[in-house]
Amino acid sequence: MARYRTLLLGCGPRATEHAAVYAELPTMELAACCDLLPERVAQFQQSYGIPAGYDDYEKALAEVQPDIVHAVTSPGRRVWEAEVTAAAGVKALVVEKPSAICPSDLAGLRRVMNETGLKIIVNAQRRYFPQFRDGTIRDIVENRLGEVYFVRASSCGNTMGMGPHMMDLLLLFLGEARPEAVWAMAHTIREESYQLSHKAPESIFAQYWFPGGIRAHFDCSPDALGTPGETSFWMHLHFDFLGTKGRLFLTQNKGYWYQSGGMSEPVHGESSWDTQGFAGQRDFTQAVADWLDGGEPHLNRFELHQYSVEALLAAQKSVYEGERVTLPCEFTDEEWLALRERLKG
Ligand SMILES: NC(=O)c1ccc[n+]([C@@H]2O[C@H](COP(=O)([O-])OP(=O)(O)OC[C@H]3O[C@@H](n4cnc5c(N)ncnc54)[C@H](O)[C@@H]3O)[C@@H](O)[C@H]2O)c1
Repeated sequence: MARYRTLLLGCGPRATEHAAVYAELPTMELAACCDLLPERVAQFQQSYGIPAGYDDYEKALAEVQPDIVHAVTSPGRRVWEAEVTAAAGVKALVVEKPSAICPSDLAGLRRVMNETGLKIIVNAQRRYFPQFRDGTIRDIVENRLGEVYFVRASSCGNTMGMGPHMMDLLLLFLGEARPEAVWAMAHTIREESYQLSHKAPESIFAQYWFPGGIRAHFDCSPDALGTPGETSFWMHLHFDFLGTKGRLFLTQNKGYWYQSGGMSEPVHGESSWDTQGFAGQRDFTQAVADWLDGGEPHLNRFELHQYSVEALLAAQKSVYEGERVTLPCEFTDEEWLALRERLKG
């Protein structure tokens, strides 16, 4: 019998990937789903054999009493979602990225986590792709390239579209490093569907300073260089690491290559959204149960993830101030809103 009962909040396109992996998770049961749109609830119940369906989240929490909730909603009400979830006695809340859009979102999630003990896990699931989870890439960065002095990170989604994934991986590859300072510039606010919920500059270019003298250029923009051979905006995601003795080029979907002094040709390894995406989401989800069972803390726990949000917001603070800022920095919702108005032009 399943040990953990789950409630799925939000039955939109992304939720299909959360639901699909349950067929391979014998200790976890997708007990109910909830969406404001009844037709989405009905479709999910039918597609995934989910016994109960709701259009009211608090009613669903009260009746289902789940152990775990997946909030696969667009950003905007994450703090409220966390508050009512914690109040219902849920043990773990998976929230989709971006976990936070503005400074008060970040502060609010920290408060709920600290005050209630709710385990909050952010769905930056690439950490469960094998080469990231087993430390292969981190080992290359730490041990095969000499002293890493420069990183170029590039993706074509907006700051809060692909930025959370790219920053999450960058911090992972640098050994959960936290940037010391950032200088950034940004342009364009759009207010159509996706851009309206993922409120952020469409284009941001930031230079981060990390401990050890590592500089990272972080380019998150439809205009970014992009990854050769990719067409969808979210498939453009790659990193270049330069060290005193070698170089690593890593793409989200076409593999990675590294070469160090003394090697006659680069080593190529697998990195593939196409072949690793499903298993990554499944293992991410299993890891929630494992953590509740007293096992390894989840790799995407908010305790760690909060620093990637802090870094993305600090870049926006730098744009607001028009100068380099050191982290952690004070950034208010009023400043964040003023920047947004200014970038609307
Ligand atoms: N991790 C990844 O690789 C990845 C990939 C794609 C999208 N995402 C993220 O997933 C999130 C969701 O994306 P989407 O395209 O499915 O969004 P969406 O807006 O299309 O779907 C969200 C659903 O949640 C429902 N909802 C919102 N608030 C609700 C509430 N209070 N009660 C009940 N239902 C509610 C909406 O009615 C909607 O059907 C976004 O934040 C997006 O950035 C992550």
